[in-house]
Amino acid sequence: MNIGIVATTPFNDQKPGTSGLRKKVTVFQSPNYLENFVQAVFDTISAPPGSTLVLGGDGRYYNREAIQTILRMAAANGFAKVLVGQGGILSTPAASCVIRKYGTCGGLILSASHNPGGPDGDFGIKYNTGNGGPAPEKITDAIYARSRTLTGYRIVDAPDVALDRVGSSALGDMTVEVIDPVADYAELMESLFDFAALRELIAGGFRLCFDAMHAVTGPYAIEILERRLGAPAGTVINGVPLPDFGGGHPDPNLTYADQLVAIMYAEDAPDFGAASDGDGDRNMILGRHFFVNPSDSLAVIAANATLAPGYVHGIAGIARSMPTSAAADRVAEKLGVPCYETPTGWKFFGNLMDAGRVTLCGEESFGTGSSHVREKDGLWAVLFWLNILAKRRLPVEEIVHRHWAEFGRNVYSRHDYEALPIEIANGIMAQVRSRFAGLPGQRCGDYRVKFCDDFIYTDPIDGSVSTGQGLRVGFEDGSRIVFRLSGTGTEGATLRLYLEAFEADPARQKVDAQQALSGLIAIADELSQLKQRTGRERPTVIT
Ligand code: G1P
Ligand code: ZN
Repeated sequence: MNIGIVATTPFNDQKPGTSGLRKKVTVFQSPNYLENFVQAVFDTISAPPGSTLVLGGDGRYYNREAIQTILRMAAANGFAKVLVGQGGILSTPAASCVIRKYGTCGGLILSASHNPGGPDGDFGIKYNTGNGGPAPEKITDAIYARSRTLTGYRIVDAPDVALDRVGSSALGDMTVEVIDPVADYAELMESLFDFAALRELIAGGFRLCFDAMHAVTGPYAIEILERRLGAPAGTVINGVPLPDFGGGHPDPNLTYADQLVAIMYAEDAPDFGAASDGDGDRNMILGRHFFVNPSDSLAVIAANATLAPGYVHGIAGIARSMPTSAAADRVAEKLGVPCYETPTGWKFFGNLMDAGRVTLCGEESFGTGSSHVREKDGLWAVLFWLNILAKRRLPVEEIVHRHWAEFGRNVYSRHDYEALPIEIANGIMAQVRSRFAGLPGQRCGDYRVKFCDDFIYTDPIDGSVSTGQGLRVGFEDGSRIVFRLSGTGTEGATLRLYLEAFEADPARQKVDAQQALSGLIAIADELSQLKQRTGRERPTVIT
């Protein structure tokens, strides 16, 4: 077998963001682009001889081509074995599960998460380390530095590997083992949740609908919900993964999962609805005519954790990203466990989970998970909710209302302004920053400003410091406004405005969030000149 070294010139735009390297498919298709990045990863991690790598993706356009290239490069770079999901498929949480279960030297996950796919859509790649989680910043920085200096990449000259049948084959000195992408993950789920109780719930007439959005969770949800738990065929909708996600935007929120939302708000709506994103790490939870805010979902799961067998002994602690509401903090306080506030991005939870400080983690962006893997996990959240419903036998809405009555409600919303010109988005951030000096102590509408800052995080385990993580305006009564620029968009800039208020009085909790937050929304606009600077009357997406 020929191992060639192909000469290349470095690219200057291969800095992995919060979720790996994400670009348009056309960028990844340009000569040497993917190869450069993969070589930079291999050079940086310098896997010891005999190492195994995990490889798979969400099935989006260019997944198969990229997998063949990476296999050839892995063989040329001295890997002994690559575990690759059948058909090139592995959801992000399943990849994390496989890395941990087989103790591999990490893995490469091909996905652009919830971003649209297809020839004109997005593609992405990220390296997860041996703990199953996204590489920490010091590794991604090193990968980037390497990508700027390398002059060639190693690749074997070989025909494509067959990916569609489970089994082993040789590629040079390396073994390619095609694995069932669902089996290990499904087994892990069975160990965490009371599948017998879930089967009984479903057999008793409980109706559910899961929208896989033509993305990677289709095969996982069909195997677990329909085959193992006995939900009727058709429970999983849009269950066939397609390279362009059927032309949709595989992001489980109220805007993009509109088919599910229509089903859950119809006259004859099922009892429970859920959706997951492109790569299977996000989740949206709905009851009949009811939306569960992701921040509340984390809090409800935390408060009910011991109902699931995998968490029966309680949780060590909770971590949430800074823009996520403080609903989980109230549960942690009551349970007497710590609650950590981290920057946006799942990678910040890894150290806390590895150190055993936290069991549950969550982000307002439809991300929930636990230390069972090192990624957020969409189907895990769905099964956790089903486990809670199986034990409590109450409607979703009632569970949330009782939760608010007990802990108070953190009324919450996120407004996204997508695809803004970068200068406009930067201008808004600068405008907000320019107001900071004069704000503390000032009255704004019904609120008095307590503090403003640009969130800084010091990792309690390794001491690393992350700055510039979001502009916060906190008010005396605990309400707050946060402005942040997205790190994952690929078109212009996305500005995120996060709004949160607290309502302790059960009589006033069942209100529409947008209405309850209207005072804060007006303050946010006044501080940022958002409408004037964007020329937009409303956000692209409201959650
Ligand atoms: C978004 C979410 C963030 C999440 C990330 C990856 O990042 O806001 O919580 O971790 O996607 O799924 P953002 O675009 O805001 O940088
Ligand atoms: Zn995702």
